[in-house]
Amino acid sequence: MYRSHTCGELRIADVNKEITLSGWVQAIRKFGSITFVDLRDRYGITQLLFAESLNEKLDANPLGREFVLQVKGMVNERSNKNANIPTGEIEIAVSDFTILNKSAVPPFSIQDDTDGGDELRMKYRFMDLRRNVVKKNLELRYAVGRSTRNYLHENNFMDIETPFLIKSTPEGARDFVVPSRMNPGQFYALPQSPQTFKQLLMVSGYDRYYQIVKCFRDEDLRADRQPEFTQIDCEMSFVEQEDILNMFEGLIKRIFKDVKNIDYTAVVERMTWEDAMWNFGNDKPDIRFDIKIANLKFPQHAFPNQPSTAHLINGVSFNVFDDAETVLAIALPGCSEYTRKQTDELTDWVKRPQIGMKGLVFIKCNADGTYKSSVDKFYDADKLKAIAEAANAKIGDLILIVAGAEERTRKATSDLRMYMAERLGLRKADVFKLLWVMDFPLFEYAEDDNRWVARHHPFTSPKPDHIDIMINNNPVIEDAAKYLEHPYASIKANAYDMVLNGNEIGGGSIRIFQRALQEKMFAALGMDAEEQQHKFGFLLGAFEYGAPPHGGLAFGFDRLCALLGGSESIRDFIAFPKNNSGRDVMLDAPSTIDAKQFDELQLKLDLK
Ligand code: AMO
Repeated sequence: MYRSHTCGELRIADVNKEITLSGWVQAIRKFGSITFVDLRDRYGITQLLFAESLNEKLDANPLGREFVLQVKGMVNERSNKNANIPTGEIEIAVSDFTILNKSAVPPFSIQDDTDGGDELRMKYRFMDLRRNVVKKNLELRYAVGRSTRNYLHENNFMDIETPFLIKSTPEGARDFVVPSRMNPGQFYALPQSPQTFKQLLMVSGYDRYYQIVKCFRDEDLRADRQPEFTQIDCEMSFVEQEDILNMFEGLIKRIFKDVKNIDYTAVVERMTWEDAMWNFGNDKPDIRFDIKIANLKFPQHAFPNQPSTAHLINGVSFNVFDDAETVLAIALPGCSEYTRKQTDELTDWVKRPQIGMKGLVFIKCNADGTYKSSVDKFYDADKLKAIAEAANAKIGDLILIVAGAEERTRKATSDLRMYMAERLGLRKADVFKLLWVMDFPLFEYAEDDNRWVARHHPFTSPKPDHIDIMINNNPVIEDAAKYLEHPYASIKANAYDMVLNGNEIGGGSIRIFQRALQEKMFAALGMDAEEQQHKFGFLLGAFEYGAPPHGGLAFGFDRLCALLGGSESIRDFIAFPKNNSGRDVMLDAPSTIDAKQFDELQLKLDLK
């Protein structure tokens, strides 16, 4: 028997028991003739005391960090208790020990605050996974998975596996492809998601499907993106949008309760995509703090229903605003006393290439009710007051104003809002705010090809009262400069994203389930009948055999776990992640393959 207990288990009530423990040597401390060892396993750390009588054996079999050690001994009450660990009241008086295996000197310390850099930790990930902080993340991930399965099982969902070697499913990213030996010159694609399979399962009558499933996307990586990642993928039949929103709010609330013991009783807020873009400058706003964007000037066609406020800034010959397509402002609470140095710093921040703005205008709303701005030359007190009112600024606020081209300016203001919220401590890791963003545009304009692309994916249904616009209009864009005036630009989708603290944690839609509408959709995306048949003949065919109305969504499992663990980076919530260049530095993958493998696959490598 290797062990009678784990290293996290023994307590004061176990005193005088004879026990056996196995684990890894965390630390060795010598005090005169006695030796203390901290023994660690998945469950905790227990202090071992090697009495003088074992010194001869210790000299012959010296211990080292991360050695695998088995000890036999008696549980004793400690004289010097450690209140910080659950086993801190006891120690083991070791009577004998066996070194089960030695360890080379670890490449970094196995501690919460390790001295190992990122690359080193990834190269020796099996060592990194011994660290408590990483283990806690994986435990949290397991708990989220368990809670998810329980909830979905209780709600009649059935876990059904779908294949990994498939034909390309477009979700907007590039496919990873796998050559087929038995079909030379042909390739499988790894699924970007099980989208078409789950829809086929609805046609088959499995009206509530789920899968916690790997997805593969060859796209540029960021802190919240991995080339292979995991989704909680779900689909339901005979549902409307409202049914889906309710079911999956329920799932997330259940996960909050099970994993964090948080009763999320608040109503999950809902916001249209248009409102999100208008008020926050992006489609996944962080609503933990109440700073909204003031739209001082904007292209009317981008927000046809919003009233213009350009008169507030026009008419004073301030070229920066006059020449700009868009002028946006945010008011920062309690920042009116920022020094010149501080406002200069912010100006430098927006000028960085990642943000790409030319500069920043600021207005200070002073405590005495006066205004001081960087554009006093152009705007008198009344004008500044009017702008401050439009920006919802209060006394003590600092208003920051950015001007430029619509898309870039909106993104810059959104980034600035997040950056300042972070600086002002408004993005609290222990506050969770869920939000549904809804009514996305169905199409996006692809400038390069002068055509429409699906914003979510081509299986998403238009809003019921927008179906006619789609059917009755020609998708061809005659005048690229006026694409926003094309009727297709106004079509909204029956699609929704769930946002948690400014991160998109999930998204989905009500699907098209009629062959004719699906064909119309493919045609709108520029696919002729032949291409439709070649790429999606199986789905169009299935829609002829009794496809029920259906819809669903997928959560980003890694993202959800990371956010619940207080991080926006998903890497440390994945046991064996890839680095930012998509490499597994431990395996050293991707790598070349043998000439024999090329021969078998009948492939030739011809790198340009
Ligand atoms: P979507 O593409 O929005 O929808 O993906 C769903 C969720 O998956 C997460 N996600 C990622 N997480 C880590 N790394 C990535 N590279 C990555 N890409 C996406 C996000 C996202 O919200 N089939 C549809 C779902 C549906 O319509 O039912 C789909 O895949 O959190």
